[in-house]
Amino acid sequence: MTDPLLTLRPWSAPEVTSWGRLPMNAVDRRTGAHSLDGDWRFQLLSAPHAPVGGAWSTTVVPGVWTMQDTDDPLRSTVDLPQYLNIRMPYAEFPPLSPVDDNPTGVYEREIHIPADWAGRRVVLQVGAAESVLLVHLDGRPVGISKDSHLAADFDLSDLVRPGGRHTLRLTVVKWSDASHIEDQDHWWHGGITRSVLLYATDPLHLADVTVRASRDGELIVDCRVRDAGGALPEGWYVSGELDGLALAQDREFDRANAEDERVSAFLGEARMHTRVPEVRAWTAETPELYGLTVRLHRADGSVADTSRHRVGFRDVEIVGRDLLVNGERIYIRGVNRHDFHPLTGRTVSYDDMRADLVLLKRFGFNAIRTAHYPNDPTLYDLADELGFYVVDEADIESHDHAHEIADDPRYLNAFVDRVSRMVLRDKNHPSVIIWSLGNESDYGANHDAAAGWVRRHDPTRPLQYEGAAKRGWADPDLASDIACPMYAPLEDCVAHALSGEQTKPLIQCEYSHAMGNSNGTLADHWAAIEATPGLQGGFIWEFWDHGILQSVNDGRPVGRGGAGLYDNGVTAPGHRWAYGGDFGEKDHDGAFIADGVVFPDRTPKPVMYEHRELAAPVRLELFRHEGLVVSNHQHFRGLEWLTGTWELALADGRTLTAPATLPALLPGETAVVPLPLDLPEDGGEAWLTLRVTTAEDLAWAPAGTEVCAPQVLLRAAVTAGEAPVSGGVVEVDEDGLLVHPLLTAAPTLSLWRAPTDNDELGGMALRWRTWGLDSLVRKVVSVRRDGDTVTVLAEYAGTSGVVRHEQVFTPVEGGIRIDERADLPEEFDDVARVGTVFETVAGLDRLQWFGQGPWESYPDRSGGAPVGHHALPVDALFTPYLRPQESGGRHGVRRFTLSGPDVTGLVVTPDEPRQVSVTRYRAEDLTAVAHHDELVPRAGCVVHLDAAHRGLGTASCGPDTFPSYLVAPGVHRWSWTLHIL
Ligand code: GAL
Ligand code: MG
Repeated sequence: MTDPLLTLRPWSAPEVTSWGRLPMNAVDRRTGAHSLDGDWRFQLLSAPHAPVGGAWSTTVVPGVWTMQDTDDPLRSTVDLPQYLNIRMPYAEFPPLSPVDDNPTGVYEREIHIPADWAGRRVVLQVGAAESVLLVHLDGRPVGISKDSHLAADFDLSDLVRPGGRHTLRLTVVKWSDASHIEDQDHWWHGGITRSVLLYATDPLHLADVTVRASRDGELIVDCRVRDAGGALPEGWYVSGELDGLALAQDREFDRANAEDERVSAFLGEARMHTRVPEVRAWTAETPELYGLTVRLHRADGSVADTSRHRVGFRDVEIVGRDLLVNGERIYIRGVNRHDFHPLTGRTVSYDDMRADLVLLKRFGFNAIRTAHYPNDPTLYDLADELGFYVVDEADIESHDHAHEIADDPRYLNAFVDRVSRMVLRDKNHPSVIIWSLGNESDYGANHDAAAGWVRRHDPTRPLQYEGAAKRGWADPDLASDIACPMYAPLEDCVAHALSGEQTKPLIQCEYSHAMGNSNGTLADHWAAIEATPGLQGGFIWEFWDHGILQSVNDGRPVGRGGAGLYDNGVTAPGHRWAYGGDFGEKDHDGAFIADGVVFPDRTPKPVMYEHRELAAPVRLELFRHEGLVVSNHQHFRGLEWLTGTWELALADGRTLTAPATLPALLPGETAVVPLPLDLPEDGGEAWLTLRVTTAEDLAWAPAGTEVCAPQVLLRAAVTAGEAPVSGGVVEVDEDGLLVHPLLTAAPTLSLWRAPTDNDELGGMALRWRTWGLDSLVRKVVSVRRDGDTVTVLAEYAGTSGVVRHEQVFTPVEGGIRIDERADLPEEFDDVARVGTVFETVAGLDRLQWFGQGPWESYPDRSGGAPVGHHALPVDALFTPYLRPQESGGRHGVRRFTLSGPDVTGLVVTPDEPRQVSVTRYRAEDLTAVAHHDELVPRAGCVVHLDAAHRGLGTASCGPDTFPSYLVAPGVHRWSWTLHIL
């Protein structure tokens, strides 16, 4: 018998968004449901029309077969993850997909219907499947669903027998018309990514519940009631309870009055309405939630159905050009988040999501854009609970064929379907403050249709869509209430805000691309945002580096069993973080998938510490050298949840501390407090830091967690160069290279760094290679002795220019002073660095320094790394970006010591705070390999001390660094001393 679901070929019919699927709603049926997660029988077919008949293997649901390793030979070799940014992985135009090469997973298992479900409505819920789901029960067709990141519910009541066993089959077709609108920039997978469950309700049930709660305490609960039998029974009613406060059905709406045209025989509508006195309002800073229980009763008072919700009382509105939460113009310190996991691909557990959000809270983020589809439902529960503002984005991205699809009427239904289903699911979450129509899908009538639906259904929230906003940030007619550009140059944003033309809040939906060693100028962005009314923040791209844990030997993903094989961003031997191309894909977009602020194991990258500081709830300023101005930079709460410690770091090596009591300040208030510590007369440069920590255990941080560490300079350094001593000896060889017992490579000039992803994709690395900066040829011009001093003049020849470099070696007490000068020709007008590089003997394993730290910092990403006395093992200085590149730098270094237990150490003191890096790798070691695990550490240290170091910028996708962070041609001078410890 031909199967009607297959005959329909729904995978090439965009008009078919579903069949037999129940309407989406906000009644959470997960609690109390029967889980169907676990082992299922599985076959992977080459195409949906291929016969099912091979051997069954076993697989785990939820899971994507592209990540799962089983004994099925086809699955493990043919269909692995593939990473593409924009391009579709096949040539067929929408709505078509490959006919014969379309991996199709067939999942089967027995289900048991409890005998006591007799007379109940039995529903199957498939949490998410990509990209087409076909459902059969005992060989009979049940339904179809598309929309890979939202659940599909199917009523099985007529097909099941209480107490009976049935065979449930879920067929998941990987490629379809829907793939063309799910062309997001991440890995392509196939399978079932969220839980499958079975639940039962009374035939009389809550079909939907809509909760509206505003900051003045007004609560409106609208219920939709249906009965599986069709006609509603006489006398049903609803009741509710909000943390002990009873809610009754609104009398104005008289169910008994058949004259009231709203009273329907088959669609029940009821409202409960109250005002909660002295309500505790919800904000991301104060995520106050109330528990609401809604009950549906039969005429005799018995309960037919119950629905539980957590309610946050808050308002969101746009007034003028400002986005307000509870009347306050908030800042959006956001990040874009995918549902991602390095072992499962897409399936994320409660613990995973909680860990994501806890980490984001600890690093000062207050907002999430669910790029680029509705995330797992649990994420929103956690966002409500921990406090995040969410831009909820519909699963629509037609990047490769955006223009054609935006106005294609065959896709109209899909656009409205996806946007409306998201809104229907998530409308009750206080965390959701903005709806997004999707991403990178051009702009067409299909968007306007979806926008129309949202505006009618949920007038309580603004709507945004980047594709519309870019047609005119101030244009009122477009389907975006927010000007939400991506990667807009900061000066354009500021100019718009100052133009007098701005009509909408300007909140970048993506900015500061975090690929590799990146996020330069983030602090400049925030300085401008806070200084410019009209700018309210944005969402960093993105949270995750989507590296998949891969066994290097067989090139396959290390599925669910890989835990323990990674730590602090580094994989265990024999493993690596795979990116595009690592699974043998012919077409791929390489490391562009590794562009997050955390590593695939969620280890924060150094930028997180800068972000934490930029988001600091407490700020510090020096007040006429007599006191300090402490300010509360939050929107909604005081400082009582915080405490602190003062720390005074002196250049002479001392760090003095004192407990801090934070003043009681309302949001926006400031207070002057006296200096907490006496500044010693001696001791040199002095920095005062307020280490702010949580005063008590919070949902997202135990007491004592550092929240920020604002710092002020109390006394500047007085630099007195070290005086020469006579009789000291400087030894140089015939090439003018310093001979020193602790150095295995003498100090030479360096103009190059292992290109960062920004350097590569922004075109700088290409220029540097063209200029020959990666392979400068050094030639000594002269070596001159003048008393104890030796002057070496050398030339470094690139392919299109020569740099003259002079080093003057002068003996000083216990060491050598090196005064350097480099003359860069005009053609080298934007180099990576100008500085010294040398290498040390083995055994110097520990770096101590006075300067910014402890984490990595660069000239345009140096916030949140306070000046102080820091110490780390040399191996811990390097940041293991997935594709090796310049890393491990420390900004503003005033002095450093390299030492080890078994060797004599050395001390380097630059003339002024400099960019320094100490690693086990030469720049060319880093460029020679594609993955971190291929690096072979050197025994000694490679030390860079830079007179100037180029900013990092974000040019892999977005603006480069600012001109002030570039390295100019012309004369550079720097000097430093080298002492033996
Ligand atoms: C944006 C896009 C994201 C991602 C990013 C680059 O244009 O919306 O999905 O591709 O660029 O990493
Ligand atoms: Mg895209």
